[in-house]
Amino acid sequence: MNSDEIRNRFLNFFEKRGHKILPSASLIPSDPTVLFTTAGMQQFKPYYLGEGDAMRDFGTLNTATVQKCMRTSDIDEVGDESHLTFFEMLGNFSFGGYGKREAIFYAHEFITKELGLEISYVTVFEGWDDIPKDEESKQIWQSLGVQDIREEGILDVFWGPTGDGGPCGPTTEIYCKNVAEHDIEIWNIVFNQFYFPGTREELLSGTSEKELKPLAQMGVDTGMGLERLEMIVQKVPTIFDTSSFKKFAFLSTAGSEKIKRRGRIIADHLRTSAFLIADGVRPSNKEAGYVLRRLIRRSLVQAKILPLSLDSLETILRNIIGEYGEFYNELKNQEKIIIDEFTSEAEKFYSSLEKGLKEFDKICPEISNGFYQVGKVISGEEIFNLHQTYGLTIDIAKDLSKERGCKVDEEGFWTAFKKHQRISRAGAEQKFKGGLADQSEGAIKLHTAHHLLLAALQKILGKEIKQKGSNITSERLRIDFSFDRKLTDEEKDIVEDQVNEWISAGLDVVRKEMKREKAEKIGAEMEFGAKYPEMVSVYLIEDRAGNIISKEFCGGPHVSKTSELGKFKIKKEEAVSAGVRRIKGVLE
Ligand code: SER
Repeated sequence: MNSDEIRNRFLNFFEKRGHKILPSASLIPSDPTVLFTTAGMQQFKPYYLGEGDAMRDFGTLNTATVQKCMRTSDIDEVGDESHLTFFEMLGNFSFGGYGKREAIFYAHEFITKELGLEISYVTVFEGWDDIPKDEESKQIWQSLGVQDIREEGILDVFWGPTGDGGPCGPTTEIYCKNVAEHDIEIWNIVFNQFYFPGTREELLSGTSEKELKPLAQMGVDTGMGLERLEMIVQKVPTIFDTSSFKKFAFLSTAGSEKIKRRGRIIADHLRTSAFLIADGVRPSNKEAGYVLRRLIRRSLVQAKILPLSLDSLETILRNIIGEYGEFYNELKNQEKIIIDEFTSEAEKFYSSLEKGLKEFDKICPEISNGFYQVGKVISGEEIFNLHQTYGLTIDIAKDLSKERGCKVDEEGFWTAFKKHQRISRAGAEQKFKGGLADQSEGAIKLHTAHHLLLAALQKILGKEIKQKGSNITSERLRIDFSFDRKLTDEEKDIVEDQVNEWISAGLDVVRKEMKREKAEKIGAEMEFGAKYPEMVSVYLIEDRAGNIISKEFCGGPHVSKTSELGKFKIKKEEAVSAGVRRIKGVLE
């Protein structure tokens, strides 16, 4: 049974049982408190909280998806037998449609009958603080004849919340044996019974003032990693031996562990990169773009050492698109973009990589064939130099050092990094709003128009709209923003009119220096995840009535009165990826 068949079986199974099958949400969520989509439930958060109406939107209270997910917390572990940065998650969800009994019955039937697997054991929540033990789930499993039921604690079998505030609750997990007879967790069934108004860390700290509140209706959220399931179903020892990975990656089954590891890193990182690019992410020094850049660079380091040529990497990428493009059309439709973005980033890094690796060899030399000075510590300054001059990021340095039995002075690196940041702060502040290298009169005007445009989009289409990227030249502005559909012609006209109204009102553009915390407090627009210095400048524009219409963290420069801008015109509105739109505009 290959992955296509598993996906189909899963979706058919739940469709037959009254679930609406929905497409995967983008890897870049609209929730600004999380960087990536890490679970299938994320796109359904409002339905658990009673803020969305599932009946109206889906015609049913139950849905099922195969969701693209990313988790980068274990990026350093990738290369072993089981860790991945990207994975597909099969999930069924219910927003008050059914409860524990149906959820557990469905999972049991799917695993044992549909896939013919044997359940090794299941877990249930043992209770914590005021949250009671999940007796009901235990009884349901017993009624199904499952013998081995293990009670576990809040760390293992209590899900959520994801991000800052959200649904959460006890879970019950299903374990099956792999071919080596190890127990592998394959399915996590969450009962969203509560809402917690903070992060998971705050909840677990037990000292937060914030209170767990019961939700009006219980939600069901289940997640089953497809790659792991495929490994169990196909009875292969690792996820890299599954038929999907075999089809696209040149993984060596022979060779040393080191060589195997390199192949796996390349396979994982290229797969993740392809999906990220298809969802509109571009390599950069911030947020998701920075993760993509690191993934590409890490895969190139491994390729260089193996060695594997850039052409071979391109072939792997094309294979990935071939393997996944039928189910995820965004890959197939953007094949050229994926290859071009990867290649241009790779070429930029490739020549410095060669020099960087040579430099690394000097710092951490081979003493004799394959032997290194075990225990040597590479200083913070040395790593910073590799980072700054050759683009070898700290995680790459760590990785290379680990292989050679050396250590890196990570703290020293951050000290050097911060010292450098202070020196270049002035420069960085100029840069962080994109395109500011261009300080021509045209670019300055477009910069102010950019602030007005973002404010108009938020006013007209919804205040939850976030800037996802920007680029300004002396000729035109470009803004990428979170929004999940095409704008109508009428909406474009209204947005344009609003910007022009503010322009003709001749409003003052005021720069204020303030402490970063203060700027955050007043809710100034900022790039999520970007690092800002202690003191920042915020540009404010007020309308005639004294209402603030725009407030953004920004290095400037800007015009001092909006009337200097001329007439604003939207030239193009298009999709960048699922959930992200792009507007190009000019001043006439
Ligand atoms: N949200 C849960 C998980 O990711 C179940 O889908 O495991």
